[in-house]
Amino acid sequence: MTHQQMILDIRRLARERNALILAHNYQRDEIQELADMTGDSLGLSLEAARTDRQVIVFCGVHFMAESAAILAPDKQVLLPRLDAGCPMADMVTAEGLREFKARHPGVPVVTYVNSTAAVKAESDICCTSANAIKVVNSLPDQEVILVPDRNLGRYIAQHTDKTCHFWEGYCPSHDRLTVEDVERARADYPQAVFMAHPECSPEILALADHICSTSGMYSFAAQSPAEQFIVGTEAGILYRLRRDNPDKQFVLPTTRLICPNMKLTSLDDVLKTLQTMGPQVTVAEPVRSRARVTLERMLAIPRD
Ligand code: 13P
Ligand code: SF4
Repeated sequence: MTHQQMILDIRRLARERNALILAHNYQRDEIQELADMTGDSLGLSLEAARTDRQVIVFCGVHFMAESAAILAPDKQVLLPRLDAGCPMADMVTAEGLREFKARHPGVPVVTYVNSTAAVKAESDICCTSANAIKVVNSLPDQEVILVPDRNLGRYIAQHTDKTCHFWEGYCPSHDRLTVEDVERARADYPQAVFMAHPECSPEILALADHICSTSGMYSFAAQSPAEQFIVGTEAGILYRLRRDNPDKQFVLPTTRLICPNMKLTSLDDVLKTLQTMGPQVTVAEPVRSRARVTLERMLAIPRD
């Protein structure tokens, strides 16, 4: 089947199934091009809850489909590749977190949305890379536990006077970026602005001109007068940055900024998902309700 035929078949089946196709900002270009909506993990889950379509095809990784299933339990959430996981989310288990909490009794747990439903259910409030500092500073407590990303955690710690206890997880894709990579890119593009995702290591963030989430990078690049940008996050973000800013140049400091899990989903997988209506992701009770409270506490914090 040709690429074009596959896209036509996916679109026809999506209409017949009343399905919405969502794609994370790190998905392959052809998946982002096909999707009804692209966005960050939380934005997509909120869209899944908002839409009146009954079926959500979530092109992303497992924890994102779980978040959609937590927020939209009446809908059918399909994940084209069940093996698309997130190594960072899997670095903490509910049991491990319970042990950590026992060592810091009474200290609230702030959990990054890049986490499993079971871990969210053990937490007090969620955060994203876009609102993490605000979420932590909204808490009345003087101490917080930050899970699972140590890099995001240390970034938050620089912007709060609270005592922070970190879980030592990290994103293997962002963690691959080295100071030498950034210095080389700076030498090659001396006029460029370097924007970095808070999942990068503290040494990288210390070199950044602007630190923000994936969605933050789109708005920053659009309004910045700069013409060249060094991009410190997963390669998939380049698709929309380049499409929406044709007069600007975007480069990665290294070709190693690839998340293999985010690249698993192909057009063929999306087509098969719509044909078979699977695999479906569900979150069983009582985990779902507890995880929902954790997400909703975050959503109740006013946005800027
Ligand atoms: P955001 O799109 O929420 O910034 O997430 C980054 C990420 O690593 C998703 O897996
Ligand atoms: Fe997980 Fe990192 Fe991949 Fe995002 S980019 S899904 S945090 S491994």
